[in-house]
Amino acid sequence: MINMQFPVSNSPHIPVLIEPIINLISPVSGCWLDGTFGAGGYTRALLEAGAEKVISIDRDPQVFDLAKTWVSNYSDKIELHNDKFSNLGKYGSDLDGIVLDLGLSSMQIDEASRGFSFMKDGPLDMRMSKSGPSAADLVNTSPESEIANILYFFGEERSSRRIANAIVTRRAERPFVSTLDLSNVIENCLPRKKPGASHPATRSFQALRIAINDEFTELYEALFAAEKALRSGGILAIVTFHSLEDRIVKRFFQLRSGSAGNSNRYAPELKNRPKHFQIVNRKAIIPPDQELSNNPRSRSAKLRMAKRLSSEPSSSLLPSQLGIPAIQGKHYA
Ligand SMILES: C[S@@+](CC[C@H](N)C(=O)[O-])C[C@H]1O[C@@H](n2cnc3c(N)ncnc32)[C@H](O)[C@@H]1O
Repeated sequence: MINMQFPVSNSPHIPVLIEPIINLISPVSGCWLDGTFGAGGYTRALLEAGAEKVISIDRDPQVFDLAKTWVSNYSDKIELHNDKFSNLGKYGSDLDGIVLDLGLSSMQIDEASRGFSFMKDGPLDMRMSKSGPSAADLVNTSPESEIANILYFFGEERSSRRIANAIVTRRAERPFVSTLDLSNVIENCLPRKKPGASHPATRSFQALRIAINDEFTELYEALFAAEKALRSGGILAIVTFHSLEDRIVKRFFQLRSGSAGNSNRYAPELKNRPKHFQIVNRKAIIPPDQELSNNPRSRSAKLRMAKRLSSEPSSSLLPSQLGIPAIQGKHYA
């Protein structure tokens, strides 16, 4: 096993599960794409481990300011793009590997002005790209049933209807502006937090963030874009942070590798289905104890990895086949 010291000690975001990723793909070579650049921890680790080039994408324009201090050390080995990873096909083909480390960076969570945190007061924003409708627009204007569905399907919040009703009642008096304002209303709808349990607004904030950033559509489109952009033998490694995301990735790899169970008796025989990937790790890899104690934010991370097979061109699957929840007959955008 390789024990690398990645140059991240002064980074505002500690890269999650990067050692297991590098160990699994080692020896690293060729051209990689990092679809979630953030503080650049994965990009740097890939280059330090032997990648000749990394094409790095992030939808958050702010991450590129931070990168200015160090990207020049790698001269033309890093190519940066401010874009969504669903568009990754625009930037590379025949790639040796693609990494996606989903969700938010510590910079986004910790900066109150980005409006992701229910612990720190800030504008109710939650837009990774800093453009488009904000979380305040969503809670202040969407129909009650739509808010309830978002909370239920994207946050698995069982009290979704009660919370949606409280939001609509409150906004009739005064629109929501701040994160704490919303989290207080949510907290008042739910039983008191038990010691050790997560904050009562956790699930609702996750749901709103997924909706505002259209995260499931992004992931769905990126999976197929990655399948097209990888060379035969290329690696797709994805780190997820909650069960809905992990289910989508797991299901995609199962269906594409021919290892999923038939969901109904009319489905075509699995053995006749083309194989696009070979799964590298059947069981999701979770952070080792040492990483958990160094970085408690890694606690819900799961890594899944698969190798592209040459035999089949990319083709599509329905979002529902990957377990992506549909809201009011559409995928929320
Ligand atoms: C968990 S952080 C990645 C951290 C990075 N691996 C590192 O080590 O520094 C996730 C990053 O992905 C970006 N992101 C999330 N969804 C995205 C999408 N659909 N397209 C592009 N970037 C996205 C976020 O803006 C954030 O900067």
